[in-house]
Amino acid sequence: MRPLFAEHLGEQRDRLWAALGALVANLENTGTLLGMLQNLGRRHAGYGALPEHYPAVGASLLTTLEHYAGDSWTPEAAASWAAVYSVISRTMTEAMAQVSPPAPAP
Ligand code: HEM
Repeated sequence: MRPLFAEHLGEQRDRLWAALGALVANLENTGTLLGMLQNLGRRHAGYGALPEHYPAVGASLLTTLEHYAGDSWTPEAAASWAAVYSVISRTMTEAMAQVSPPAPAP
């Protein structure tokens, strides 16, 4: 997946972190959350992201959160993040699938 991203990942880190913050802030606002994830998923179709990429990204994300969370990473926190990532990836990949693939070059 690395070639899909720009050489320097600083901006990407900030965007990912901001998106995760916005998603967590809207956990109770189901309609807003759904719209955000569908838009994000549709944009990802254009980035070359594939459904089969999502499990690896989720595993990396959870391992990173565990690494930095220290003692606050409880079994409950791990289970909650796994459940949230499952909803995120399902909603994004469903929205990605509804975007038509680009027309083949003439
Ligand atoms: C929790 C799931 C994910 C979140 C919250 C997320 C979030 C983001 C955000 C906020 C951006 C910035 C552009 C935008 O807002 O449209 C972005 C770009 C991108 N994402 Fe994701 N993403 C996720 C999963 C993935 C996965 C599974 C892939 C698989 C390859 C992926 C690949 C990319 C690529 C290639 C870009 C463009 C990078 C660039 O412009 O250099 N993302 N993502």
